[in-house]
Amino acid sequence: MAAPGRTPGPAGPAGPGPAAAGPGASGLAASRPDASGSGAHASPGRHHSEVELRVNGAPHVFTVDHRSVLLDVLREQLGLTGAKKGCDHGQCGACTVLVDGRRVNSCLLPAVAQDGRDITTVEGLADGDDLHPLQQAFLDRDAFQCGYCTPGQLCSALGAVAEAEAGHPSHVTDPGTPSGRPVPLGPDEIRERLSGNLCRCGAYPNIVRAVEDVIR
Ligand code: FES
Ligand code: FES
Repeated sequence: MAAPGRTPGPAGPAGPGPAAAGPGASGLAASRPDASGSGAHASPGRHHSEVELRVNGAPHVFTVDHRSVLLDVLREQLGLTGAKKGCDHGQCGACTVLVDGRRVNSCLLPAVAQDGRDITTVEGLADGDDLHPLQQAFLDRDAFQCGYCTPGQLCSALGAVAEAEAGHPSHVTDPGTPSGRPVPLGPDEIRERLSGNLCRCGAYPNIVRAVEDVIR
């Protein structure tokens, strides 16, 4: 279910992704506990499957419990704790990551169904010590307070900008906008498209300004 707001922010399960990453496995299966919480090293069984994911540009092959969602696998098996578990019900957007470039609520996605996909988390946005322009804009605009929602806001904003560039309309898009043409992103469009990402601190005005900074 989408968060309050008329246009869902992070999308649901993404469509079929590209071919699976090559066999350049990271070997995580041998070094990380499985997702069952048992502490045992992962090994395929009736309730587990091996998946290949490309996460922030790096290929990983590991074993997941069929009941595990992508958010838990990212946080607990890969140690990528940027994406946050806020509601765990697809309503707050704190867990937003990009799957094959589309924003998704990773708390809702079975990890086993993401085999072969390209995942980008907030940890993959910066280039070494060089922040992504949107991250820098969030700093420059003071677009957060506690920061808990910020990783999801960043990934969601990047997905929203890409959707607008691809011509995807939102609830507030002018019906006269030519189909398939990039949708201009003014404050109303940004607010609408990010309405699935909640911020309890109320940093919304400066989040909108930060997104405006990077699309100018
Ligand atoms: S939407 Fe996933 S944790 Fe809230
Ligand atoms: S900055 Fe605190 S929840 Fe968004």
